[in-house]
Amino acid sequence: MGSKKVRLLGILALVVVMFLGWNILSYGQNVYVVGTSADYPPFEWVDGNGNYVGFDMDVIRSIAILEGIKINIKDIGFDALVPALKSGKIDIIAADMTITAERAKVVSYSEPYWASDFDILVRKGSNLNVVTALSQGHKVGAQTGTTQADFLDNLKKSGINVQIKLYETNDLAIMDLLAGRIDTFIGDSPVSRAFAKSHPDKLVDIGVIHTGENAGFAVKKGDPKGILPLIKDGLSKLHSTGIWDNLVKAYFTGNLDKITTSYAKCKHYFKSGDPVSYAAALASSMTEK
Ligand code: ARG
Repeated sequence: MGSKKVRLLGILALVVVMFLGWNILSYGQNVYVVGTSADYPPFEWVDGNGNYVGFDMDVIRSIAILEGIKINIKDIGFDALVPALKSGKIDIIAADMTITAERAKVVSYSEPYWASDFDILVRKGSNLNVVTALSQGHKVGAQTGTTQADFLDNLKKSGINVQIKLYETNDLAIMDLLAGRIDTFIGDSPVSRAFAKSHPDKLVDIGVIHTGENAGFAVKKGDPKGILPLIKDGLSKLHSTGIWDNLVKAYFTGNLDKITTSYAKCKHYFKSGDPVSYAAALASSMTEK
């Protein structure tokens, strides 16, 4: 064999070994796939640079760092999340998913991490109130597969005259509300409030329906990968380090319009494995006047 050929083979072998080594390394690191439906500010949405941002996203990123695991976030439709968990395409659902008895038959939940009700949105000047917006034949939009969709279904079954329109994503529902194709939108309270705030001249939040729902993170039934103990421990660390309070401050009192610049400014703290500084910096950036 000529020495050129030998060298070529050598390089080829090196490339193969490097490739295998890389794969084995990243397998060893346990990458957990986090499924979300990134249409739900302030819990999860996509910023101006294409990053997944929001309370759930940063909670799960912080837990991952503190527990020494790797995550990979995947945006899929809300109604596809539970099937994806069952089939093993994703490992964790982080999507402001309400803990319901029905769902608990097919997934396992973390402890509840957020309580919320529903808020009702209409177009400004429409003169609808919480009662009329959900009756008299009005068209009401909600996301497919959600507790809001179930709620509307029950209204209809109990004989109330509503026309239900279900959407794959909440962004599409809001577009239809703005365009007058539906009269009412119903979502979790912080979300409806966030949408109202981002369209202050066009939309108005007319009130709450108290449901007392609680959101949890979900994993495959029975937690075969042992993820729930990590989430539990991670959540308690978030509370004891002040990360939790700062993320609450950033996303539930801050100006969500600032997220693109704030995330760009703060995300390096995640890269260097410092979620405490990340959350503190994000909170002050989002609430800065
Ligand atoms: N909390 C409601 C439910 O669990 C709606 C959640 C929608 N979440 C989302 N990321 N789009 O059914």
